[in-house]
Amino acid sequence: MTWLVTGGAGYIGAHVVRALQADGAEVVVLDDLSTGAPEKVQGVPFVQGSVLDRGATRKLLREHGVTGVVHIAAKKQVGESMADPLLYYRENVEGLIALLDACRDKGVDKVVFSSSAATYGLPDVELVDEGTPGVPLSPYGESKLIGEWVLNHCERAYGMRAMNLRYFNVAGAATPELGDTGVFNLIPMVFERLQAGQRPRVFGGDYPTPDGTCVRDYVHVGDIADAHLAAARALESGAPGATYNIGRGEGSSVLDVLRVVGEVTGKDTTPDVVERRPGDPARIVAAVDRIREGLGFTAKHDLHAMVDSAWAGWQLRHPAA
Ligand code: WQD
Repeated sequence: MTWLVTGGAGYIGAHVVRALQADGAEVVVLDDLSTGAPEKVQGVPFVQGSVLDRGATRKLLREHGVTGVVHIAAKKQVGESMADPLLYYRENVEGLIALLDACRDKGVDKVVFSSSAATYGLPDVELVDEGTPGVPLSPYGESKLIGEWVLNHCERAYGMRAMNLRYFNVAGAATPELGDTGVFNLIPMVFERLQAGQRPRVFGGDYPTPDGTCVRDYVHVGDIADAHLAAARALESGAPGATYNIGRGEGSSVLDVLRVVGEVTGKDTTPDVVERRPGDPARIVAAVDRIREGLGFTAKHDLHAMVDSAWAGWQLRHPAA
């Protein structure tokens, strides 16, 4: 079995490549390096290119004898998707369709798809299960939900099988070199403020949650990678396609995260509480029963391990921090 990992030079993709390699799988990476870094890919063939290029993907699938695809290459910033929706529909929806065209041509029938909790929008439930109706609030979330629909139809029509993996809030790093280089999510944004000698910001302190700040399900990127491995192996064993949340099933508030950042960095994380950020759900925490039962997957790392490893990566890239 040879797995193509699209986006394998990026933050999550590089972790997935590592997990597949460590489990003895053959891997080839396709990445356009728009945000990825080639040095993150070690010991496997790397092809620079876009999934939008059907001809190049067909050639890659043939030359490397690819039997399954883990499709992670995508744009992933909610705010950017509101400002430039066409970019998101092109990269995430057209990109998936182009990839599936090439897969269909070459008889590749197994897909692990990087989906998102953003497909749920503002769910008003304690734990979000995979049957909770999805009303995404952004082109980004829509592009991921459309991707799932496309894959579900490809299963019915062409016999392709897909595992749609809905990531919750991904954080941490397996090694400092594989850390997230983007500063778009809570933990790196807090590190950046602390490094600049500023107080971290909390977007809204009056939510209907125990401490008034938003609650999220943070999950270690190493656990995310293990879930991809389990999904890929299940497809190899003949499992049908499915949709799974990947989270811990445990909520942490913004203040919980700041407390752990304070413990890990030794810095004062007393925040400035500012206006709510538009579109933020008060609480979104995964139900994780389905993935435990379906793939035997349970996340192993806690919030401390996520912040600790994210901080090690941050310090590697910012020696003065
Ligand atoms: C987390 C919480 C903020 C920064 C997004 C996407 C989601 C998924 C993960 C990909 C929120 C608060 C943040 C700060 C703060 N992406 N915050 N101060 O918005 O939960 O999820 O990334 O699939 O689809 O929507 O993540 O890290 O931006 O925010 O108070 O400086 O931290 O308001 O409550 P979010 P986030």
